[in-house]
Amino acid sequence: MALGKTNPSGTVAWQKLREHFATMQYASMQEMFANDNSRAEKFNLQWNNFLVDYSKNIITEETISLLLSLAEEVNLKDAIAKYFNGDVINETENRAVLHTALRAPESAVINVDGQNVMPEVYLVKNKIKAFCDEIISGQRKGFTGKAFTDMVNIGIGGSDLGPAMVVEALQFYKNHLNVHFISNVDGDHVQEKIKNLNPETTLFVVVSKTFTTQETLSNSETVRKWFLKSAKQEDVAKHFVAVSTNIQKVTEFGINPDNVFPMWDWVGGRFSLWSAVGLSISLAVGFDNFNKLLKGANEMDEHFKSAEFNQNIPVVLALLSVWYNNFFGAESEALIPYTQYLQKLAPYLQQGIMESNGKSVGRDGNPVNYQTGTIIWGEPGTNSQHAFFQLIHQGTKLIPTDFIGFVKPLYGDEDHHNKLMSNFFAQTEALLNGKTEDQVRSEFTKTNFSSGAAEFLTPFKVFQGNKPTNTLLIQQLTPEALGSLISLYEHKIFVQGVIWNIFSYDQWGVELGKQLANSILEEINSGVVKQHDSSTTLLLTYFLHKK
Ligand code: F6P
Repeated sequence: MALGKTNPSGTVAWQKLREHFATMQYASMQEMFANDNSRAEKFNLQWNNFLVDYSKNIITEETISLLLSLAEEVNLKDAIAKYFNGDVINETENRAVLHTALRAPESAVINVDGQNVMPEVYLVKNKIKAFCDEIISGQRKGFTGKAFTDMVNIGIGGSDLGPAMVVEALQFYKNHLNVHFISNVDGDHVQEKIKNLNPETTLFVVVSKTFTTQETLSNSETVRKWFLKSAKQEDVAKHFVAVSTNIQKVTEFGINPDNVFPMWDWVGGRFSLWSAVGLSISLAVGFDNFNKLLKGANEMDEHFKSAEFNQNIPVVLALLSVWYNNFFGAESEALIPYTQYLQKLAPYLQQGIMESNGKSVGRDGNPVNYQTGTIIWGEPGTNSQHAFFQLIHQGTKLIPTDFIGFVKPLYGDEDHHNKLMSNFFAQTEALLNGKTEDQVRSEFTKTNFSSGAAEFLTPFKVFQGNKPTNTLLIQQLTPEALGSLISLYEHKIFVQGVIWNIFSYDQWGVELGKQLANSILEEINSGVVKQHDSSTTLLLTYFLHKK
């Protein structure tokens, strides 16, 4: 069954939230903390080595209760059941959305079109395990009999971002294989990647759900040509494998059908790292660690499915985001992990969040009359503190920010970790409390500044504070914890899509550019510019002239 089609702005809860917002928009978190010693106790969630403190938000118990009513009114409970049961909730593509099945236990029964998909999921998992074991151990060799030293993932979007992010995040658990990623159709990118590779010892994993994506096909062809300069056609089978739903196209490309790892159309590209799209993850860190990643994701799935909404981490974080997006008018959210390993988390979630919820037509087919998808951005702390934090602290925009930190570092360097984490705690405290004029003035009394200079500088040194943050404090960056963290954000996306009454699992908005690029490519190749707006004509003519 399809998802309901409730316009959230017509719900009773939405109207009440509007009225409530009128009383909250200038509320001071500092005052709320000062007046209630148990605020942090009330607004935190603890689950499985995760502490989520959401007390530093511009909320009261009433806010949370109204947001929870909104979730009830749009029938979130029913939507969650449909999501996990394999109902066709991706109506515009007539598909189920079942990346959660990829991390479910083998004993689960999850039906798509009346067929339990779990046996097939485990068949592919076993194939991934066997393949990775052979490559990592050196048992499976290249065309000159040498073991593989390098692997290259060729894919784009969901066929690149997830694996690239996780391989980076789990570097600590990595084996000897060097893992590379080629994504952009930029030929310079491809050449830079292959220039130091040895064709005898490099494995290529071509990842494309559709196997029609221009970037991936062009890059694979270029790489194959480069490979064939040193090897014979029959050697391709030893060095090229593919992950796709489109077995026919993969075979046409020349990849041996035995070397194809299937996926299914009920796995969206941006949620596909749990499928064979994660082959490069499994090659990089071994299948056992890949499986632990899946296990962690499954644990979060179970939490999301079963926890009461007021205790449910993805639900609470999604509702807070709706609060700022739809009532405070916040346009973006930042995500700041305090570990360099998660440097690709924000770019990865940009696809997850913005491709999913960047929609303006409701599930009822009408344009929405409220804001939908948030803009997400971020970089690891402490680097980001020295880059863009100025704007979060003293700029004019409201930017709710998630801080993600870990209790224990991986190499056990306590000195560094304590410094890192003191910044982590200090930033959310500073964003909450800011610095008052009195504090600034009192600081000046301890300096040699003249009173005139102090007077001049005071307004610039005042921080308003009252900037909302969530703090996610996790025990350690293990494969399980990472799996849970990614799954958390996936479910946050789902909850927001349900509330905003949009279809989160299609991506029609990326099609137009692809179509136009194809016809413009013909014009570039032929040198004949056709009918365009005058700006595009000018640009194309200039480009062709200067080429
Ligand atoms: O252009 C967007 C998109 O369709 C993404 O959703 C997807 O992850 C990416 O392209 C790559 O698609 P494919 O895996 O089919 O090559």
